[in-house]
Amino acid sequence: MLNDITVIVLAAGGGTRMKSKTAKVLHPIAGRSMVGHVLAAVSALEPATVVAVVGHQREQVAPHIQEQLPNAVLAVQEEQSGTGHAVRIAWESLSPEDRHGTVLVAYGDTPLLEGDSLRQFVNAHVSTGGAVSILSGVVEDPFGYGRVIRDEQGSVTAIVEQKDATDEQAAVSEINSGILAFDAEFLDSALPRIGNDNAKGEYYLTDTVALARAAGRTVGAFPLDDVLQTEGANDRAQLAALAREKNSRILRHWMAEGVTIIDPATTWIDVDVTLAADVTVLPGVQLLGTTVVAEDAVVGPDCTLKDCEIGVGAKVVRTHGELAVIGAGASVGPFSFLRPGTDLGAKGKIGAFVETKNAQIGDGAKVPHLSYVGDAEIGEGANIGAGTIFANYDGVAKHRTVVGRHAKTASNNTFVAPVTIGDGAATGAGSVIRKDVPPGALAVSSGPQRHYDAWAQRKRAGTEQAAAAEAAGTDAVSDAGEVGPGVGDEPVGG
Ligand code: UD1
Ligand code: CA
Repeated sequence: MLNDITVIVLAAGGGTRMKSKTAKVLHPIAGRSMVGHVLAAVSALEPATVVAVVGHQREQVAPHIQEQLPNAVLAVQEEQSGTGHAVRIAWESLSPEDRHGTVLVAYGDTPLLEGDSLRQFVNAHVSTGGAVSILSGVVEDPFGYGRVIRDEQGSVTAIVEQKDATDEQAAVSEINSGILAFDAEFLDSALPRIGNDNAKGEYYLTDTVALARAAGRTVGAFPLDDVLQTEGANDRAQLAALAREKNSRILRHWMAEGVTIIDPATTWIDVDVTLAADVTVLPGVQLLGTTVVAEDAVVGPDCTLKDCEIGVGAKVVRTHGELAVIGAGASVGPFSFLRPGTDLGAKGKIGAFVETKNAQIGDGAKVPHLSYVGDAEIGEGANIGAGTIFANYDGVAKHRTVVGRHAKTASNNTFVAPVTIGDGAATGAGSVIRKDVPPGALAVSSGPQRHYDAWAQRKRAGTEQAAAAEAAGTDAVSDAGEVGPGVGDEPVGG
């Protein structure tokens, strides 16, 4: 039944109450602009054509719509002289041979709109054979909306705007959501007959209802129970309220799909995120963009993951990540910073205070503590010692470091890229690795340790340090040092 549909999305309005340099319909909710949500909902109807009417800030709005829906037709309304005028401009932007079937009019600022609701509404409209159908809603406070006026038989006779309503009409609680469906032929004949003789001096699209009745045509009004779906955001407070509502709907959806969400109040999930059954989300988590989390993974507490891929059974704790891939059974955090291009293998580990970027870390490989891993490849089963810096930037260009399979590097190393540490190789603590290490070799670069005996007693006489050294006695002098060239004092070997 649903074919031959043209959708007109009105998005020319100013949105002055947002007080923003960003056009109102471009403000995001759940990872998508408000108009992006509307375009996604109307696309569920598989319309032949979508026409978007743009006006205010169209230099932002038009390219955004084109990006979201490349085959959308853009119609420009220079001055916002009413919804009837806006639809007329959209209609006239279509070639006459495309003006047929059913026409659905929606607004660009209703981010909770669902395709299913539109489908049911258009079905109802088509089955009545009416000239116009109204997606209506019964609300507690109808102030500001157009009221749906019915006669004694219950047939719809008109929509009356707030400013034009009598007290009796204003008391009606059934409102026009703004979403209307038309028979194209009727719309074609009605648009030129809409006048602007009303309280606002605007061309009201809603006047088509009385025009249809005058022509003896049927008008239907179909109340949508879930009125929030057609609610628009006009200021930042309404934007926040709708964002929270959208978020709770997304969370309820995932909980129904078998995801455990411990604290819905502090969990935010974007509309394009995908979660498997038996994922657990702990408090304070934001899953953003196109993040995908596989079965049995546990995320949180306190993570922000954008466009990440989390493998089966992985654990991610207090982590900020973007464009990172975490393998099955891997462990990340707490306090890890995963930058784009991080790819951690199965059962791998990125631990506390570790920053990674453009780093392929193999299966079972570990970077457990306090490190920076940039532009690197770490082989499977390798272990990177605490406090290791992959020095990838020489001040001019970035270079790569390769650490081989099952290599074990020691604490406080610096790998000066480009450099390769071979398979099964090792390094000593505090090494600065500038030259390639052959497979299986131990590389040690720090100088031999030297002792300047009784240095504290001689150079820090009178301090608690010297007193402590004195109290420990001279027997404690170790044999670890070697005699080397003295620098202002003579070192003593043991
Ligand atoms: C409109 C309806 C009202 C309905 C309400 C629901 C009319 C005359 N009134 O009233 O019955 O209850 O929406 O929210 O239709 N727009 C344009 N160009 C224009 C005017 C508006 O693109 O010249 C767009 C706006 O950007 C907005 C939408 O159309 O997205 C609605 O316009 P708005 O001025 O908010 O209409 P209301 O007075 O609220
Ligand atoms: Ca409005």
